[in-house]
Amino acid sequence: MDFNFSVIAGKVIHQVIHANMQECVRRVGDAYLAHEAKKTVNPDSYFLLFPDRPRDRIIALPASLSGQDGVSGIKWISSYPNNVSRGFPRASAVLVLNDIDTGYPFACLEASIISAARTAGSAVLGARWMTGQPRVRSLGIVGNGLIARYIYEFLMGTGWEVDEVILHDLVPAEAERFAREVCQRDRHRKIVTVPDVETAVRSSELLVLATVAPAPYIHDPGLFAHNPVVLNISLRDLAPEVLLASHNIVDDVDHVMKANTSPHLTEKRAGNRSFVNGTIAQLMQGTAKVDRTRPIIFSPFGMGVLDLAVGRWVYEAAVSSGQDVRISDFFFDLSR
Ligand SMILES: NC(=O)c1ccc[n+]([C@@H]2O[C@H](COP(=O)([O-])OP(=O)(O)OC[C@H]3O[C@@H](n4cnc5c(N)ncnc54)[C@H](O)[C@@H]3O)[C@@H](O)[C@H]2O)c1
Repeated sequence: MDFNFSVIAGKVIHQVIHANMQECVRRVGDAYLAHEAKKTVNPDSYFLLFPDRPRDRIIALPASLSGQDGVSGIKWISSYPNNVSRGFPRASAVLVLNDIDTGYPFACLEASIISAARTAGSAVLGARWMTGQPRVRSLGIVGNGLIARYIYEFLMGTGWEVDEVILHDLVPAEAERFAREVCQRDRHRKIVTVPDVETAVRSSELLVLATVAPAPYIHDPGLFAHNPVVLNISLRDLAPEVLLASHNIVDDVDHVMKANTSPHLTEKRAGNRSFVNGTIAQLMQGTAKVDRTRPIIFSPFGMGVLDLAVGRWVYEAAVSSGQDVRISDFFFDLSR
């Protein structure tokens, strides 16, 4: 048994992930399939809340993946929305990996990039399985922060063709910045920013919601009459009447019915969960199908097992290329 402990920095993690986004998406897909096959343990996240700072939280996501690449661990992720106005990202995180046999922690990874990448991986998988092809006429992005950037980069990095990009943010300067600094001009015929969410919704064949809205503000199912695919990443933008008029896919039915997400509010309104038509893993396995005669909404709650799957892959890559910071005496006094 070696008791090495590796620390892996964000720079290394960024390089590994951005060099192979397709592999990152594959790892996320495998984790979804493992979860569906009950080869995971993924308890509820624990929210540390502060009475005097209602917008801030730190969330613990413990999880375990069994099988050949088995690993346990925990992501500890902070969300402080005011950070954005200070000029740095809202979320910061670490991921601890534990050995499946001994329980010993063997690595600590910067995890804001892992978290954003696994979220983008889910979004790309959702887009792939719900549109059926890696091209769309129009991609709308509502909320143009860091998660939106990762999702856009992952779509582009995995070969998606997008004719037109439509951007909308509550802060118009954020949409302008995204158009200027993030969008790859040579990949699109047109990039526009729009001042109202209705135009963004109505014009988008594929719609990404990546805001920090705490409660629904999109109420009109009529905006979705053109049957778009919606990647409901921020989870709280859509009112129950929109979900009730749509085909709904989730990552895990029990997990997503929490914390006043749109599916949770819809369950409270409807008194049941029958508006959920399947999980992303069931689409991948062919045991569920999408209904293209209605809007399709993918609401992934985000599970710790995805962070573990991506974190384990990044750990292997960093260690095999000697890019981890290894501490051989992290665990000391190991005699009994
Ligand atoms: N489902 C998942 O697995 C998962 C994982 C990670 C993050 N998220 C969610 O993704 C969201 C985005 O995270 P981020 O790190 O990019 O945040 P961020 O603060 O960097 O960006 C959010 C952007 O949304 C804009 N915005 C806020 N309210 C809006 C509204 N009503 N309409 C339009 N724009 C609005 C803000 O101005 C900001 O530019 C968060 O809600 C986060 O919880 C989900």
